[in-house]
Amino acid sequence: MTARLEIYKCMECGNIVEVQTAAGGDLQCCGNPMKLLEEQTADSSKEKHVPVIEKVDGGYKVKVGSVPHPMEEKHYIEWIELQVDNKVLKAYLKPGDAPEACFCVCGEPKTVVAREYCNVHSLWKS
Ligand SMILES: [Fe+2]
Repeated sequence: MTARLEIYKCMECGNIVEVQTAAGGDLQCCGNPMKLLEEQTADSSKEKHVPVIEKVDGGYKVKVGSVPHPMEEKHYIEWIELQVDNKVLKAYLKPGDAPEACFCVCGEPKTVVAREYCNVHSLWKS
């Protein structure tokens, strides 16, 4: 049973998909069930992954994390996502970029949540 915005990974080929419409089927890739990625919320290692949301003029800035995450070829933040009420905004990053993104947002949203995906340490949520 899937739910909107859940993220699944194929442990065989590495495909990653995000659910847009949940319709009850099971997701498969390479002939196997895809793995649901859990949203981690607390860092225990010295590498920080939990996204930090900062209100800025015209929107929000999201940093990963409280200490900047590495952005190296083999270990980096692939994307940062901001969920603002019923909207989802996403910034795709590459090695060498800063581990942060700015999102333009109109008005005063009721809920603001950030997620990010580290290619080594998986999915994190603020
Ligand atoms: Fe990481």
